[in-house]
Amino acid sequence: MCGIVGYVGDRQALEVVLEGLRRLEYRGYDSSGVAVLTPGGARLVVEKRAGRIENLDKALAAEHPAGIPGTTAIGHTRWATHGPPTDRNAHPHLDATASVAVIHNGIIENFAPLRAELEATGTELASETDSEVVAHLVARAMPAAGGDLAAALRQVCGRLEGAFTLVVAHKDEPGRLVAARRNSPLVLGVGKGETFLASDVAAFVEHTRDAVELGQDQIVEITADGYTVTDFAGTPVAVSPFRVDWDLAAAEKGGYPYFMLKEIQEQPAAVADTLLGHFTGDRIVLDEQRLDTQELRDVDKVFVVACGTAYHSGLIAKHAIEHWTRVPVEVEMASEFRYRDPVLDRDTLVVAISQSGETMDTLEAIRHAREQKARVLAICNTNGAQIPRESDAVLYTRAGPEIGVAATKTFLAQVVATQLVGLALAQAKGTKYGDEVAREFAAMEAMPELISQVLGVVEPVRELARDIAGSKAVLFLGRHVGYPVALEGALKLKELAYMHAEGFPAGELKHGPIALIEDGLPVVVVMPSPHGRPVLHAKLLSNIQEIRARGARTIVIAEDGDTAVRPYAHHLVEVPRTPTLLSPLVTTVPLQVLAAEIAQARGYDVDKPRNLAKSVTVE
Ligand code: F6R
Repeated sequence: MCGIVGYVGDRQALEVVLEGLRRLEYRGYDSSGVAVLTPGGARLVVEKRAGRIENLDKALAAEHPAGIPGTTAIGHTRWATHGPPTDRNAHPHLDATASVAVIHNGIIENFAPLRAELEATGTELASETDSEVVAHLVARAMPAAGGDLAAALRQVCGRLEGAFTLVVAHKDEPGRLVAARRNSPLVLGVGKGETFLASDVAAFVEHTRDAVELGQDQIVEITADGYTVTDFAGTPVAVSPFRVDWDLAAAEKGGYPYFMLKEIQEQPAAVADTLLGHFTGDRIVLDEQRLDTQELRDVDKVFVVACGTAYHSGLIAKHAIEHWTRVPVEVEMASEFRYRDPVLDRDTLVVAISQSGETMDTLEAIRHAREQKARVLAICNTNGAQIPRESDAVLYTRAGPEIGVAATKTFLAQVVATQLVGLALAQAKGTKYGDEVAREFAAMEAMPELISQVLGVVEPVRELARDIAGSKAVLFLGRHVGYPVALEGALKLKELAYMHAEGFPAGELKHGPIALIEDGLPVVVVMPSPHGRPVLHAKLLSNIQEIRARGARTIVIAEDGDTAVRPYAHHLVEVPRTPTLLSPLVTTVPLQVLAAEIAQARGYDVDKPRNLAKSVTVE
């Protein structure tokens, strides 16, 4: 939540920062702003506007037609927490003398007493944000810090509670930026004669792929020539540089109108790349994960913690892991987990699934789990993010950058990654023979081709989407692993098309939700395989007849050749036959397309749905 960019180098910083903000806009897009240090350090020029970056562009063109000269700048794109998205509440924030400019991601939980303290001593605050206090506090701390911006920021950080990435510029220090991080993301980009700070590498990957992940409670000072990192006490700390393993092309739309549409198409590759190298011919190998065989053998209970779409992948994982290992698996929304005293010990494996690796609810859940001595394995799509850093082990999904706010390719990658973990556990515990593991893996390896086949036949889904775009609600039904798919289909539709959409286990229908069925209501049904789950298939056939009898318009996702369901489907979407546990990899795809298409038909921005942000770094 909130995108942050800082630049010091020899180029005109405004352009570099604006370009970085455009690449980070998916992190928040309520308002945006920049501060440029003019040459000689005479002044900080700030421009900020509510709304998308286009509004800032227009304001800059009107107010500064010749640009703002300067080679040091900061920029921010906001997802509002405190104070509505107005020009005033947009970042950067200045202190009363316009000497210090601050951008912030996170929430300063004790901002109210700090604000009261500032007001009591005569400082007028210009915004309603929690962030602005930092600008004033840093300015006040400067004299006692001997005029050293880093020392002043260090002092202020000692007083802040909550989560923050802060980047601070001072008008008397052109060519230098100071940043601090606690619980919110911050990455450093190291170029030739230029240095970048950003919430994620997308902001600077076109300039450099050499990056450094900042750790918890660290302060970094950057100049054009390099950087120094210290802890909050001022002691230098060692950092771990890394090379970004994707390039600019991966973060561009590549001819698609929306990132989400491109990312849906990238799903076969996301699955193939996530599997790559994880089977040696007779064993699953999860090299990056740091749990040894004995630790896996000792696992007697698994908790999956995750949010949103990642949570849905966890619901699917439960079926696979329990089936293969006979170890009980609980799947829990990360936001609920630590508030209810879950039963955890050192033989509990907590699998934390997070695309971003930054989600605060999930991060807090794993912190709680580790305090209780459980082992934590993260499944994450972002190298070096906070969740994998704080976990005992990590398995990376290799879906590449996902820019569309709605998760698509990372969901499919999570489904196979969790199944790799399930197989590794089964292998360690001896609940699956080597040849069985090999067969399961081979089935997974066949999936990219099958997903491609689905992508080749989704045109009728697009037409259908345009046809039902005016409906006031859509229901989704499924059973077994089809139930999480139904939840995922409903979530996509809610977040993209702002329609009332709900997923139900089809068997629950008669216990209440069937009252929602009315004439013409679109109901999407995710059918189990008539071969893999014949009993459930028969039950769902009855459920479809029940809802049709009450007027529902049935949209059925069914296995190729499922003739029994045809008479009951107003619209039939056929997907290739797959093993049941892998079927979500094909049944989810038409639902993603449906949601994206309905959203477009209703005139919404598919990549940036209202009120949302790609990574949720506040609880
Ligand atoms: C839905 C979506 C969200 C995320 C959720 C978890 O399309 O994107 O529901 O899945 O916020 O995010 P991560 O996986 O980054 O922890």
